[in-house]
Amino acid sequence: MNNYNPMHVSVLLKAVVKHALPKNGKIFADCTFGLGGHTKAILEEYPQITKVFAVDRDGEILNYSIDKISDPRISRFQAKASELPDVLKLTGCKGVDGILLDLGVSSYQLDNHERGFSFMRSGPLDMRMDKRDGNTAENIVNTYEKSQLEHIFFEYGEEKFARRIADAIIRKRSEKTITTTEELAKIISDAVPAANKNKKQIHPATRVFQALRIEVNNELGEIEDFLTVALDCLNPGGHLSIIAFHSLEDRLVKNFMQKYAKGCDCPPKFPVCVCGKKPMLELLTKKAIFADEDEIAVNPRSRSARLRCAKKCLG
Ligand SMILES: C[S@@+](CC[C@H](N)C(=O)[O-])C[C@H]1O[C@@H](n2cnc3c(N)ncnc32)[C@H](O)[C@@H]1O
Repeated sequence: MNNYNPMHVSVLLKAVVKHALPKNGKIFADCTFGLGGHTKAILEEYPQITKVFAVDRDGEILNYSIDKISDPRISRFQAKASELPDVLKLTGCKGVDGILLDLGVSSYQLDNHERGFSFMRSGPLDMRMDKRDGNTAENIVNTYEKSQLEHIFFEYGEEKFARRIADAIIRKRSEKTITTTEELAKIISDAVPAANKNKKQIHPATRVFQALRIEVNNELGEIEDFLTVALDCLNPGGHLSIIAFHSLEDRLVKNFMQKYAKGCDCPPKFPVCVCGKKPMLELLTKKAIFADEDEIAVNPRSRSARLRCAKKCLG
């Protein structure tokens, strides 16, 4: 990646900055640091910040980001968002005033064909955000049962030709191992009916590549794991902001925030609360925030982004 200067445009920047921390917040955790675009804007808006935990699963992007943003308040950690408690423990920090998750991958990862996230140029079928993880896209494509492949493509990619594509993969891999993004993109493209391809604006492999990436990195399981520890990492009054790009991701976030903002979980037919559970979150965004047309025009990736923010209750 010599002489490469990636342009990752941070999505929903204004809204993220507005909600990232309480006005007097001092400690911030960016758990999907990427190239630090959001953090940079947040540090400008909240000059009183004393420490930023810059967490990313991808060690390569963290190293690369050093050239993009250097500030003595930033400490980088290669870790999953769900490992934030370990990161805080390591430094003796008891809690943070703001946590941000901007899920998915960065342009840096997509543009590097050796990482195998994109079909625009041929590369190995990898797609691991953390190269220390075991499961690659090549492993999935060449070893998963047909029904598993179909399930992944349909559920995570919302691909309506999931069965045809899974069939085509099974046929092809019985002849030879599928090893490159280019080979896989061609198999998918050939499997999708021509009439449908013409109607589609996006490349026919887009949805399957997204689905494989979600499976390789266990992205939904990782969000669930993060949500189980998120509240413990926040100081009272601290803000939690999450940008999702997929309806399955967003549903997890929405359900979590609504559950903890409600408190009482007595059955609706009970005339009075007997569980005594108090709300632990206050919703800062009643509905998800989406990019406007101007942002989408400049950054088409922002079209599927949705931001939800909540504040940890004081008592
Ligand atoms: C969309 S980019 C973030 C871009 C960043 N907000 C910016 O403005 O530059 C997502 C980043 O989060 C990382 N990532 C995705 N899921 C993660 C997780 N569960 N834990 C840690 N890092 C994650 C990816 O490796 C990628 O670098």
